[in-house]
Amino acid sequence: MNNRRNFLKTTLIVASGLAVSGTAMAAGNLSPAKKGKSIKISGIIYSENDQGDWEGKAGSHAPKITRNGQKVTILTDHGMSERHFIVRHTLVTPKGKVLGTQTFYPNEDEKALSTHELPEAYSGKLYATSFCNKHDFWVTEFEI
Ligand SMILES: [Fe+2]
Repeated sequence: MNNRRNFLKTTLIVASGLAVSGTAMAAGNLSPAKKGKSIKISGIIYSENDQGDWEGKAGSHAPKITRNGQKVTILTDHGMSERHFIVRHTLVTPKGKVLGTQTFYPNEDEKALSTHELPEAYSGKLYATSFCNKHDFWVTEFEI
C-alpha cells in the first residue's frame, strides 16, 4: 500500500514540475486552475484535456469535483465490475502532500466516490486523482 501511495505522490510531484498547458476542471462550484499551469504528461497521466490513447474516456475516468464547505468530494463516474473498476482516489497538494485517499473494492463499492476534509483555511490548487485498473492514471486539477 505504501508503494502505491509513494508512486502516486511521486508521479504528482514530477507532473507538477513538468506542467505545461490546459485545464482539467470537471464540475462543481470550483475555479479552474490558471491556464498554463496544468499537468500534462502524455501517455502517463491522463486528464480531460489530454486523453492520449484513451481518447473518449475522460467522462468515465477524469475525477469530478464538488465542494461543500471544508469537504471535497471526488467522483469517478465509472462502473465497478470485478474485472474493470476504479482502484483509488487521492487528493493531493501541488507540493505532494496527500490530503486524502480512498481505495475501492469492486465487490464492496458500487461507486468510486470519496469525500475528503480540507485543512483549515486551505486555498489554492489541488489535484484529484483516479486510477482505473484498465485505463491508467487520471488527474483533475482545480482551485479552491
Ligand atoms: Fe476504465
